[in-house]
Amino acid sequence: MILVTGGCGFIGSAFLLSWFRNTDEPVVNLDLLTYAGHPGNLQALSGDPRHIFVKGDIADSALVARLLEEHKPRAIINFAAESHVDRSIDGPLAFAQTNVVGTLLLLETTHAWWRTLPPGVAAEFRFLHVSTDEVFGSLDANAAAFTETHRYEPNSPYSASKAASDHFVRAWHHTFGLPTLTTNCSNNYGPRQFPEKLIPLMILNALGGKPLPVYGDGMQVRDWLHVDDHCAALRAVLAKGKPGECYNIGGRSERTNLAVVDAICKALDTLRPNTDGARYADLVTHVRDRPGHDRRYAIDDSKIAHQLGWQPEIEFQHGIRSTVEWYLSNQEWVRSVTSGSYRQWVERQYESLARAA
Ligand code: NAD
Ligand code: TYD
Repeated sequence: MILVTGGCGFIGSAFLLSWFRNTDEPVVNLDLLTYAGHPGNLQALSGDPRHIFVKGDIADSALVARLLEEHKPRAIINFAAESHVDRSIDGPLAFAQTNVVGTLLLLETTHAWWRTLPPGVAAEFRFLHVSTDEVFGSLDANAAAFTETHRYEPNSPYSASKAASDHFVRAWHHTFGLPTLTTNCSNNYGPRQFPEKLIPLMILNALGGKPLPVYGDGMQVRDWLHVDDHCAALRAVLAKGKPGECYNIGGRSERTNLAVVDAICKALDTLRPNTDGARYADLVTHVRDRPGHDRRYAIDDSKIAHQLGWQPEIEFQHGIRSTVEWYLSNQEWVRSVTSGSYRQWVERQYESLARAA
C-alpha cells in the first residue's frame, strides 16, 4: 500500500482516482481538509475499501508515525501543501508552516521509521515529493525552458516555501540516504480545481456574467499540463525514477494568460452561448498586476521523456474544452466548494485589485 498526503485536493484527488483505474493497491490518504481539500472530490471512492481516509496534518508526527507503523506503506507521495500564490502574498506564514515545517516533519518521521525497516524493504521504499516549476523563478521570452539543473530562484512566498521543501528532501537523501524522488511540474488544469486558480475562476466568472480579471497585460506565459497527464507522470516516476533524482513535468503547451482566457471564452461560446448573443470575451477586464508576477515558466521534459518514457498526451484545446464541460456538468460540486469563506476571499482579492487598476 502507499500513503498519499493531500489526496483531497485538486491533484491529489485526480491522482487517487487515476491510481484506482490502474491498480487495486490500497492508499492511505492523510489530508488536513483545509479550505482547498474536499472529501467530495473522492465521492467516487465512497465505500471503496482500497481508500482509507485519515483527517490530519503532515506536521503531526505522532499521527504520521502511527500510520506508518500500522500500514507499512511502500511509498509516500507528498501532495499536501498550501498552493495558491495570491494567498501566499496575503498570508505567507501558513505556507512556511505546511510547505516547509510540515514537509520537514514528514521527512523526519518517515526517516525515523524507514531506518527500522529490513534493508531490502528500505531500499525499495520511495518518498515522492510533488513540487513546482515556480522554484526556478521567471524566464525571459526567448530563454531556454527549465531543466532539472536550472538554478533555484523562487520569487513568491509560495515558491520560496516549495523551494525550501525541495532542499530538505534533497538533504534527507544526501545525508540520510532516504530514497527520495522530487517532481517539479508546470501549471495543472482539469476537473475539480479549486476556483481561486486562473482556469476555474475564469470559467465560473464567465458563467456568472462577471468580469474576467486578467492581471496586468495578460502576456505572462505558463506551460499548461492536464492533471491526468501529470498523474501518469507521477506513476512513472514512482515506478521507474532513480532515488535522489528530480524530474521536470510539463504539458508542452506554453500559452499567455490572455490566450488561455480566450480559449475558455471560445469553448463557452460554443457549449453555453449567451442568449443575447454576447461573447464571453467581452467580459475580459485588466486589473492591477500581481506583485512580483513571474513572466514566464516553461518546462524542458527531455529527462523524464528519455529516461522514463513519459510524455504528455492531452492536447490543450481538447483538455480545456473537456475541463469547461466538466464545470458545466458539475454545478453541484461548484456550489459545495464556493462557500462563504471562498466568496469572502474572492471579494477581498478582486475588489482591491480593481480599485488599484
Ligand atoms: P490543493 O491546494 O488543491 O490541495 C492541497 C491539499 O493538501 C488539500 O486537500 C489540503 O486539505 C491538503 N493539506 C494542506 N495542508 C495540509 C497539511 N498540513 N497536512 C495534510 N494535508 C494538508 O493543491 P494542488 O493543486 O492539488 O497541489 C498539490 C501539490 O502539487 C502541491 O504540493 C503543489 O505545490 C503542487 N503543484 C501544484 C500545481 C498546480 O498547478 N495546481 C503545479 C505545480 C505543483
Ligand atoms: P494561478 O492559477 O494562480 O497559478 P500560478 O500563479 O501558480 O501560475 O495563475 C496562473 C496565471 O494567471 C498567473 O500568471 C496569474 C494569472 N491570473 C490572472 O491573470 N487572473 C486571476 O484572477 C488569477 C487567479 C490568475
